[in-house]
Amino acid sequence: MLVKKMQTQVQELDGKEVAIQGWVRTNRASKNIGFIVINDGSCFSNVQVVYEASLENFKEIGKITLGSAVEVKGVFVATPDGKQPFEIHAQSVEVLGACDHDYPIQKKRHTYEYMREIPHVRPRANSYYAMFRLRSVLSMAIHTFFQDRGFVYIHTPIITGNDAEGAGECFTVTTRKDDKYDEDFFGKHAQLTVSGQLHVEPFALTYRNVYTFGPTFRAENSNTTRHASEFWMIEPELAFADLADDMDCIEEMIKFCINYCLEHAAEEMAFFEKFVDKDCINRVKHVANSHFARMTYSEGIEHLLKAKDQFENQDIFWGMDLQSEHERYLCEKVVNGPVFLTDYPKDIKAFYMRVNEDNKTVAACDLLVPYVGELVGGSQREERYDVLVAKMQEMGMDQSTLQWYLDLRRFGGCKHSGFGLGFDRMLMYLSGMQNIRDVQPYPRTPRNLIF
Ligand code: 4AD
Ligand code: MG
Repeated sequence: MLVKKMQTQVQELDGKEVAIQGWVRTNRASKNIGFIVINDGSCFSNVQVVYEASLENFKEIGKITLGSAVEVKGVFVATPDGKQPFEIHAQSVEVLGACDHDYPIQKKRHTYEYMREIPHVRPRANSYYAMFRLRSVLSMAIHTFFQDRGFVYIHTPIITGNDAEGAGECFTVTTRKDDKYDEDFFGKHAQLTVSGQLHVEPFALTYRNVYTFGPTFRAENSNTTRHASEFWMIEPELAFADLADDMDCIEEMIKFCINYCLEHAAEEMAFFEKFVDKDCINRVKHVANSHFARMTYSEGIEHLLKAKDQFENQDIFWGMDLQSEHERYLCEKVVNGPVFLTDYPKDIKAFYMRVNEDNKTVAACDLLVPYVGELVGGSQREERYDVLVAKMQEMGMDQSTLQWYLDLRRFGGCKHSGFGLGFDRMLMYLSGMQNIRDVQPYPRTPRNLIF
């Protein structure tokens, strides 16, 4: 459909005068003719401009450097037999912004490490150019999925007085040099949010189905390829839904997003398939068409015990927090695809998760996927006031800052569930990009904050 539309547009434009602005990707000239390849920002493909010696500034055009901003006026020529569907025969080429010779991107392959040092120009390199558009397309996929299903988008606060996950890995927000928070800007300790979940739950008990989608911040000192200190998270919350409903929603959302990106970022995905991960399109297509496996944590431990010798950490026991090598073993070796691990021991999960009948496990799920590990974390929430209070006391939590959260259990509270999808990890999963630093425009990680 899209190709057909493009063909008619190309035919309609054939012979017409056009003007384009963009940035030079390559420029080469011989005695009588030259070629500038330009990207105008509208799509992944570049356009080739042909310029001839008859132009009065032919010599100067030949010297235009890579990275320069230019305007080309000329004639659109359809080239159905050529490599590209069309080219532009220049009548004039004007430099709008020259690019100095120390432009850090040259026509060769640069390492990702090198590119991370120059976040102000790296979007113009192919891998990043493709990634940051995919990022935009995936955002739209998320909104489309939830809006089409009647979910209400809630803007939860970035500055908060609660540590939702209770893990204590938060960045303090202060205007003071000391730590007298009583005298601080808000008159109390404030921090950047680690999760919008607690703040979105009241809205689920109003609109039934809601979601947040925004930046979250974690001061975990884990220097891995999958952890960032600032990352985006989608957190839906569904009233009158249990854990099974929650997992159905996760599965449907992931599949929708895959199909949406394959359709709306086809050129970008084709690029990733060619240059980043040969298997990425096949892999995600397969995922979009298969049923996600579901396995309890206890079953997972059984599998791990049998394969104990393969791990660096061989201390496998019921009640342990799984490490990434264990999670990857389960999805890559046991299931060979995405798997929901459910019903974790209550002691290794957050306070708000609903305690199961066995009084040992909680109604939680993590979605584990090959290469990335944990992509989604979700749970049914504890809706029983007394059980929740007891749990908080057991965990030594300060009840006073969360009385409002407890009150929700007294003011028409009901069964409800939700989850958090790591947006940046989803991008890694789609593209096959190996490091979270290469899917974020300005990555923030321990000891690293460029610009
Ligand atoms: O499992 P997490 O910590 O769950 C929550 O925050 C819940 N409040 C979600 C909810 O139920 N509403 O985080 C959810 C997801 C993880 O599965 C992971 O994909 C991603 O967020 N994530 C990170 N992504 C990048 N860098 C980090 N440091 C991340 N920490 C978590
Ligand atoms: Mg988690």
